[in-house]
Amino acid sequence: MKVLITGCRGQLGIELCQQLNNLNRSNKRFELLKTDIDTLDITNSFQVHTMVTEEKPDVIINTAAYTNVDACETDELNAFRVNAIGAQNLSAAAFQIGAKMLQVSTDYVFDGTGNSPKREYDPINPQSVYGQSKALGEKLVLQTNPRHFIVRTAWLYGEGNNFVRTMLKLASEKKEINVVNDQIGSPTSTVDLASCIINLIKTDHYGVYHATCEGECSWYDFASRIFAMKSINIKVNPITTKELNRPAKRPAYSVLENFMLKLIGLNNFRQWEDALEEYLERN
Ligand SMILES: NC(=O)c1ccc[n+]([C@@H]2O[C@H](COP(=O)([O-])OP(=O)(O)OC[C@H]3O[C@@H](n4cnc5c(N)ncnc54)[C@H](OP(=O)(O)O)[C@@H]3O)[C@@H](O)[C@H]2O)c1
Repeated sequence: MKVLITGCRGQLGIELCQQLNNLNRSNKRFELLKTDIDTLDITNSFQVHTMVTEEKPDVIINTAAYTNVDACETDELNAFRVNAIGAQNLSAAAFQIGAKMLQVSTDYVFDGTGNSPKREYDPINPQSVYGQSKALGEKLVLQTNPRHFIVRTAWLYGEGNNFVRTMLKLASEKKEINVVNDQIGSPTSTVDLASCIINLIKTDHYGVYHATCEGECSWYDFASRIFAMKSINIKVNPITTKELNRPAKRPAYSVLENFMLKLIGLNNFRQWEDALEEYLERN
């Protein structure tokens, strides 16, 4: 199976390439075509079309995205170009050659109201430019290629810049930090997500999937757990979203239930604390 991956220098792209390479060492089932913005700018429809029709992958996995949620608020056109048009370019090219298309999306397509985990069929209502651009990306993929997997994840950490790395860096510089305690979600390791994506692309179970680690917590709980697991002595103060005052609106309760994965028997996500423990042993 020939797999084209976009955004290979990003958190999820790195992990996917690593896992697929490892699998290839034991059996040569995957041929990997690694790209990032310098080799494939997904907003460039001509470049996308040329590469896809020449290389003829069986699957395209789009991990490339404009992920700076606050910057999206003031850079709306680029956010939509990358997160919506980029996804559409890939999906349309995949359709032309009969390939599957896997689009990675986000919990930010929901508005964060309510207090029970959202399922795949619950109505979306994005509150930020980032969320709106990712929601349009989902819709365009859905419209352009029936052989699609739309995989919504949340609070991702792996290789690269992420909340865990930021907390560890802050702990080396400060004695006290403030962390938001009124946003609830599910911290998700790229290890679990990449493994889920590799299992999904082998199937024909097309559709929308929620794909996050099990369990839920606030950013404050998440930070506190990181410091406890690393035996770091730092004072963590819980604050409100209002006090932090960031440009983009974030969902207050954005827990996703991996309902569709459960239905097809592919929900192999660990409890978020277990995945975090393994990550911290390596970082
Ligand atoms: N991070 C999270 O907490 C989170 C939560 C929910 C969903 N997601 C979704 O999960 C996916 C993976 O996220 P991630 O954290 O791995 O992202 P990431 O680390 O920010 O990586 C994104 C990659 O895409 C590249 N890219 C940006 N614009 C591009 C373009 N026009 N063409 C090709 N590549 C481009 C980036 O390159 P540059 O670095 O050079 O810009 C980067 O290498 C994304 O779809 C994201 O929306 C992430």
